[in-house]
Amino acid sequence: MLDKEGFVLIKNFFDPKKILIESNNTLLKAQQIRWRYAKIYHNIFINNFVNFFSIRYPGHKKLNNNLNNYLAELNLQNLISKYTKWKNFKITQIELQHNEKYNYQSTWHRDWHNSNLENIVIIIYLTDEKGFRLVKKNDEKKLQDNYEFLREKSYKHGYTNLPKDFYHEFDVNSGDIVLFDAGLLHQGFVKGKRTHFFIRCQKIKNETSKNFDEIIEDHLKVDASDEVLEQDARKDSYNYDINYFSLKNRIKSLIYLVLYFIPIHKIFRFLKDRKKKFIHFHYSFFQK
Ligand SMILES: [Fe+2]
Repeated sequence: MLDKEGFVLIKNFFDPKKILIESNNTLLKAQQIRWRYAKIYHNIFINNFVNFFSIRYPGHKKLNNNLNNYLAELNLQNLISKYTKWKNFKITQIELQHNEKYNYQSTWHRDWHNSNLENIVIIIYLTDEKGFRLVKKNDEKKLQDNYEFLREKSYKHGYTNLPKDFYHEFDVNSGDIVLFDAGLLHQGFVKGKRTHFFIRCQKIKNETSKNFDEIIEDHLKVDASDEVLEQDARKDSYNYDINYFSLKNRIKSLIYLVLYFIPIHKIFRFLKDRKKKFIHFHYSFFQK
């Protein structure tokens, strides 16, 4: 459960059919209008496409008028109250995370500076997905005894090769939901396609309503102004100004495509790393 293991998996929480259709429409629209607030993983060449890995503010009216209504229907407020026992909280981040056919592997990292159940992540799965990794709360001591440097909320040692008995690997289906303490060490991982919502939620002191439209922060609202979006995006370390459609970046994506299947530079690093302390084949066909 959330207090001991630091996560909870709820099977078959919702029917994903309609919300998956709406999400796919959102993704399509984001491509068409070249939605500025999107994160791109190594941009492997796909014709007429930029391979997003995350759409920020997916409920904005420029992308989809209905998406927030579908999210509201999930009644996440009840779910959050039930598992966290929090009285008051707000939703600070909603991203629609999606990969095309390529593999994805993030660094090992933490989203919050402690794991005292102050801040949680909710993942709402719209497709079946295997590979997301989390070091359970009850394994935190074991982790810190062996990998002291992974204690901090930093990306510095992100590609450390953690043995399998240090983490839990999720194998989930569309309609499932995972809640976890944002302070726990985790790593995004998938081979091939995925579509899910990533939602961050924070415990607060002030009294709040239990209405979805009111517990989401202003930048997540359907009619958020450009200024509000811009202001929030600026807090992120990601550079939203890169033009992935420019000729230079399209050529770069072709090179990435070659490296995806023939990762020569990674093979050299793999051979040099005698003790196999690091993961080398992230973002490649050989990812593991
Ligand atoms: Fe994360």
